[in-house]
Amino acid sequence: MQQFKERNIVILTGAGISAESGLDTFRDPSGIWAKYDYRRVATPEGFRQDPALVHEFYNMRRREAASRAPNAAHLALARLEQEWPGGFLLVTQNIDGFHESAGSRKLRHMHGALNSGLCAGCGARFPHEGDMDEASRCPVCTEVGKVRPDVVWFGEMPYFMEEIFDALAVADLFLSIGTSGTVYPAAGFVREAKQAGAWTVELNLEASGGHFDTIIEGRASETVPDFVNRLIAKPYP
Ligand code: NAD
Ligand code: APR
Repeated sequence: MQQFKERNIVILTGAGISAESGLDTFRDPSGIWAKYDYRRVATPEGFRQDPALVHEFYNMRRREAASRAPNAAHLALARLEQEWPGGFLLVTQNIDGFHESAGSRKLRHMHGALNSGLCAGCGARFPHEGDMDEASRCPVCTEVGKVRPDVVWFGEMPYFMEEIFDALAVADLFLSIGTSGTVYPAAGFVREAKQAGAWTVELNLEASGGHFDTIIEGRASETVPDFVNRLIAKPYP
């Protein structure tokens, strides 16, 4: 374990951290993109063509997330945030809300969130619970038929990019947890962190093939608490 006390940590999480909570990942053999055509359910064009199908897809995922809970990996990251004296930013590609449920607060949802709605008419973003459909009304402009899930689709710009790149530019430690590293710009974060001089660590079921200094293979519910324990207990070698 290298020296990191009072230094800056940036963490990126992906679907793998929620796998043991019972949510499917995207690119594993039985993943979401093996069952659904992402062009139909996760692009602006898909939504224009068949909004009912897109609502149904996210309603299903919202219900699934609501019936599951964060696991030991989410909890460990929330504890790290509380106990870490230096800079800390948790960036997630996940829309499930488990990091908040686990207690994380210095958290940015770069791909949006299931518990948020977006009005394609007036641009408002608002808290949303339960199913959404073509009859949903925007709580701000009151228009019907313009409400969509507040998730970032392929071809759209992820949220908080400036803040995230600023954090990466001064990162001393970058952790990538449970992500295949195939979707940009998140896939490029490790390179940014490396350029800033950070120690880059991947914690994943299997190495993704990205360029990390250290790769820890295994289930997130085991590897993440273990890594966090070691980091908190012995930030100096
Ligand atoms: P890309 O990974 O090259 O770029 C994705 C773009 O969408 C980026 O601009 C990214 O910022 C944005 N994005 C924002 N939010 C996203 C989110 N939640 N999930 C994913 N992307 C998000 O992908 P692309 O340019 O859309 O597609 C390139 C090719 O990748 C496609 O032609 C397709 O063949 C392939 N693709 C494959 C799968 C799969 O799992 N089989 C899924 C998506 C794309
Ligand atoms: N512990 C750790 N890692 C795991 C576990 C686990 N229990 N189970 C699976 N993984 C790993 C897989 O090996 C894989 O490398 O998690 C990774 C999940 O990768 P993806 O399914 O590609 O998910 P992600 O990287 O989050 O996808 C990025 O793609 O379509 C979009 O919007 C979607 O935000 C998502 C983005």
